[in-house]
Amino acid sequence: MPGSENSTAAWQQIIKVEFLLPGMQEKTMNNKEKEPKTILKNGTEEDQTIDTILRPTSWDDYIGQKNIKRNLKIIIDAAISRGEVSDHLLFYGQAGLGKTTLAKLVAKEMRSSMKITSGPAIEKMGDLAAILSNLESGDILFIDEAHRLNRMVEEVLYPAMESRKLHIIIGKGAGARTISLDIPPFTLVAATTRADLLSEPLRSRFGATFRLDYYNESDIEAIIKRSASILGIEASPEAVKVLAKASRFTPRVANRLLKRTRDYMEVYKEPKVSEKIALKTLEILEIDAIGLEAHDRLILSTIIDKFGGGPVGVNTIAASINEDRGIVENVYEPYLLRLGLIRRTTGGRLVEPLAYTHLGKKPKDRLL
Ligand SMILES: Nc1ncnc2c1ncn2[C@@H]1O[C@H](COP(=O)(O)OP(=O)(O)O)[C@@H](O)[C@H]1O
Ligand SMILES: [Mg+2]
Repeated sequence: MPGSENSTAAWQQIIKVEFLLPGMQEKTMNNKEKEPKTILKNGTEEDQTIDTILRPTSWDDYIGQKNIKRNLKIIIDAAISRGEVSDHLLFYGQAGLGKTTLAKLVAKEMRSSMKITSGPAIEKMGDLAAILSNLESGDILFIDEAHRLNRMVEEVLYPAMESRKLHIIIGKGAGARTISLDIPPFTLVAATTRADLLSEPLRSRFGATFRLDYYNESDIEAIIKRSASILGIEASPEAVKVLAKASRFTPRVANRLLKRTRDYMEVYKEPKVSEKIALKTLEILEIDAIGLEAHDRLILSTIIDKFGGGPVGVNTIAASINEDRGIVENVYEPYLLRLGLIRRTTGGRLVEPLAYTHLGKKPKDRLL
């Protein structure tokens, strides 16, 4: 490699110097996202350990998402056969659908080492400059929660993605000068739950973008069975079905529910996860048979009770339940839409008949 130890040390010296574009103020906090209130929120340390233990490490273990797997394999094989790094990749989709897992599989398949960071962890331009200058040829840089990169940091990322250059401005005012450094070939893999918050210039710089969608029920059942066998839990077929139905078509939820059933199984001194234990677990977690949590039921009953079943604008719904519009629209609604409990219309959100039946409410007579 051209970057001898000496020059790397020199780089790091340079990068330690405070640098800011003249007249620009760097934001270090980015508060555009509030935490959603769901089972996926703030995993405990134990939840995170479970995630790691259960994370598939081969394409065969990565259940479902067939199109994404096929397209990724094509990109990777092409890159390997050309002896080049792959295009920059963007994965987006709801929390727990398998973005980080995919990134790790890509790195494994490319036989690359992966450096992991996240949008909120890169506070200053210098932080990203330090990360980029430490990349080695063929590395994968994984940036999780990419929508939380601040704009100043993104400015450093663009030339790195496009032409593998790191532009550094040292000093301020009239004495400021720019140094341009070459970065070895690397692939940026970014993941985000909120593609709507990703800046357009960043989004357009990825060679391929993949949207992870909800899994189907049989895939989730397969994931629960795989996880149960890894964790040494015996679960009856009925219990697997109950848990799969309540898993929001999301692998991480499925795994967390399974983990909780094991806790209750131990408390109730049951030898295996039966349907009864699965149902009891859901009851204690206040998750209903189709995976709705308190916030989901609140959205539905608000539209029904306060707005006659809709149509009602999403801003109004968000204000009524004291929540961010973005969270209602991008975190809570997709699952309700997927279940066919609500519908998006030009006039706003409309509750579907299924939601009334599910909540045991009577539809009001509507004027047609
Ligand atoms: N396709 C899959 N097959 C099996 N398990 C999966 C799959 N996708 C995700 N998982 C499980 O769900 C957990 C969460 O996946 P992760 O990649 O961390 O989601 P994300 O990064 O999208 O939030 C992983 O630990 C893994 O056990
Ligand atoms: Mg992740």
